Amino acid sequence: MQITDKVALIVEDGIGFVTIDNPPVNALGQSVREGILGGIKAAEVDDSVEIVILIAEGRTFPAGADITEFGKPPMPPALPDVCQVVEDCSKPVIAALHGTALGGGFEIALSAHYRVALATAKIGLPEVNLGLLPGASGTQRMPRITGAGPALDLMLSGKPISAKAAMEMGVIDEVVEGDLKAAAIAYARRLIRAGFGVRKTSERVEGFDNVTNYQTAVDTRRARLKQVAKGQMSPFRIVDCVEAARKLPFAEGMVMERAAFMECLASDQSKGMIHAFFSERQTAKIPEMKVAKPRSLDNLAVIGGGTMGAGIAVAMMDAGMSVVMIERDQESLERGRANVEKVYDRNVAKGRISEAGKASIMQRFTGSVDYGDLADVDLVIEAVFEEIEVKKAVFAQLDGAMKPGAILATNTSYLNIDDLAATISRPEDVIGLHFFSPANIMKLLEIVVPAQVSDDVVVTAFELARRLRKIPVRAGVCDGFIGNRILANYKRAADYMMEDGASPYEIDAAMRDFGYPMGPFQVSDLAGGDIGWATRKRKAASRDPNERYVEIADRICENGWFGQKTQRGYYIYENGARVGQEDPEVLAIIDAERAKKGITPRVFSVEEIQQRYLAAMVNEACNVLAEGIALRPLDVDVTLLYGYGFPRWRGGPMKWADMQGLDVILGRIKDYAKQDAQFWQASKLLEKLVAEGRTFDDLNKGK
Ligand code: 3HC
Ligand code: NAI
Repeated sequence: MQITDKVALIVEDGIGFVTIDNPPVNALGQSVREGILGGIKAAEVDDSVEIVILIAEGRTFPAGADITEFGKPPMPPALPDVCQVVEDCSKPVIAALHGTALGGGFEIALSAHYRVALATAKIGLPEVNLGLLPGASGTQRMPRITGAGPALDLMLSGKPISAKAAMEMGVIDEVVEGDLKAAAIAYARRLIRAGFGVRKTSERVEGFDNVTNYQTAVDTRRARLKQVAKGQMSPFRIVDCVEAARKLPFAEGMVMERAAFMECLASDQSKGMIHAFFSERQTAKIPEMKVAKPRSLDNLAVIGGGTMGAGIAVAMMDAGMSVVMIERDQESLERGRANVEKVYDRNVAKGRISEAGKASIMQRFTGSVDYGDLADVDLVIEAVFEEIEVKKAVFAQLDGAMKPGAILATNTSYLNIDDLAATISRPEDVIGLHFFSPANIMKLLEIVVPAQVSDDVVVTAFELARRLRKIPVRAGVCDGFIGNRILANYKRAADYMMEDGASPYEIDAAMRDFGYPMGPFQVSDLAGGDIGWATRKRKAASRDPNERYVEIADRICENGWFGQKTQRGYYIYENGARVGQEDPEVLAIIDAERAKKGITPRVFSVEEIQQRYLAAMVNEACNVLAEGIALRPLDVDVTLLYGYGFPRWRGGPMKWADMQGLDVILGRIKDYAKQDAQFWQASKLLEKLVAEGRTFDDLNKGK
């Protein structure tokens, strides 16, 4: 019997199968909720049904509430009510799980009386990743079975666990292999034979057995959050709700959970994180996809085995691919191989892989100093020194060595890829693949599209990103592409504030307060001040003489203080400490530079530091958009979220700006321009959007 277009009740041999079919992930949209509710009620009144199995078609048990419905007027039945109907069913209900039973999906399962899962299934409560909390009884039902610790760990990490781990916790009753439906039927028959009936999770108490342990688990998580989740709402609300689960009767706990869920849902934090969720899936949708298919990608190579070449090779090997590494001589090649092995040695030391596992991965690695070994390669990524002449020479060799149709990619951070492509006979095969360091860890991959490149090369680059499990963002050619170009601008704003009166420590603290894991001067110390110094020296001759130039960083570098690697930069890192101490000598350098320019330092509040920093970021992002360097505002958001530490719960700078009001941002820029009109030139695009009353989100939607 079809209950709604998404849910059916099928009765076979006394078993009522409430079957959900809402591809791709069986999200619990209105029609699914209504269908489950109707299916359970229909099974209850059907005398031929002895027991109910809740099961889903396609690739997964419901992966959660339908996120696209959030922010729209609620449509009954509400998910917690559906869960209650499942639990109140007078006939035993078994949830049969496969795929990813997440969020509301797992909460429905928790409301069933028994749970079986395929061994390959994953179970989780990822709501925290959306700035939310399990809002369909998860915070109340789960701890009744597991106690507070395991429940909080699942909810606060947001990470799914295996069916086996879930069984060890008690939230899955049986892990099965093979045909889920057949296994669920066998389980149902056994329950009936053994005379097991309804078992309501809301009435279970084994998780409350040890009151002291329960409260300690709550207290330790809350104390830790104060350190790691400052400023965020939903993690703290999760702890409050789980604490209340033991203290309040179930019905009252549910009221509290609902109120906390609605509070989170209405917050800018969840809006930001939901934006991030959809945006990171949108960036792979590019115009070239509609007109081209990927080329083959079986054989890969990297040129250069330094920081990036080795990291990229590891990223490829970790994704199960083989790679050839070319270096300039045998000695450098050995260093390159050692850089790769170091990563796996650390994994062995940490017990993540065995020596044999490492050996088997290393079989996918081939080192060579002979470009002739690239004859069969489909795609090569060049990661040699950041010098155009060196890169041109490498590209000339690649041009001679590689087969027709092979793709020549460069990992350059700043250099002009159009110019590089123009030096070889096949510019249509040249593309930028800008990885971030460490390349095997960082998720972001800027795919830089030069003027002459073929569409199918672009599509192949996105396919490579998919296989490497990276988040690709399409970028155009300019100095620094999307990320580094915007970074250069807000770093300048930070330097100006430093010269005008804020200490680097105040600026770093203000940006940590905003949600960044580190401030800009800590990042500079981590990356190494010498890199930026070399770039500044290279660009000195072409710098606009009217541009305000802050020399503080140069003075610091002249002392040989390059940051963590020299144990001194903006901060002092005594004995190689990773957290630096403030340095009075740096403050003295800053004072001297201010005096030299006749600047009387003034006080900057935390808010002003944050507002100037972000205004510079948003303004330059508008220029990047206006020039077509980024396709949409969401591409900027994803770049800064995944490559530059922008706090995810703020959604990205463009989403943040929308939520502030673009007129507010523009007003600030105009205000700052009264002191420095050269730097604070409002982007034409920002002015246009404000004049038309439009937002970045409108641009995302093509409005
Ligand atoms: N609601 C609406 N759409 C969803 C969705 C959801 N819960 N989950 C995934 N989708 C969409 C994706 O946006 C994507 O759409 P697109 O094809 O148009 O881009 C499509 O489904 C496929 O998703 P993925 O590309 O992510 O597929 P994967 O196979 O890589 O991953 C997944 C599947 C692991 C289920 C992943 O999609 C995921 O993590 N989804 C979100 C899970 C989640 O956060 N659930 C909790 C929701 S909040 C909740 O339940 C509140 C409750 O407590 C009250
Ligand atoms: P690196 O100095 O660590 O490594 C460069 C490697 O290239 C060295 O091992 C060197 O021996 C090798 N090499 C030089 N000339 C060669 C040639 N002709 N043939 C083969 N190998 C040659 O440099 P790093 O940091 O790995 O940077 C490489 C590229 O990646 C640069 O273009 C850089 O701008 C870019 N990049 C660097 C990032 C970083 O954080 N380090 C981040 C993103 C991009």
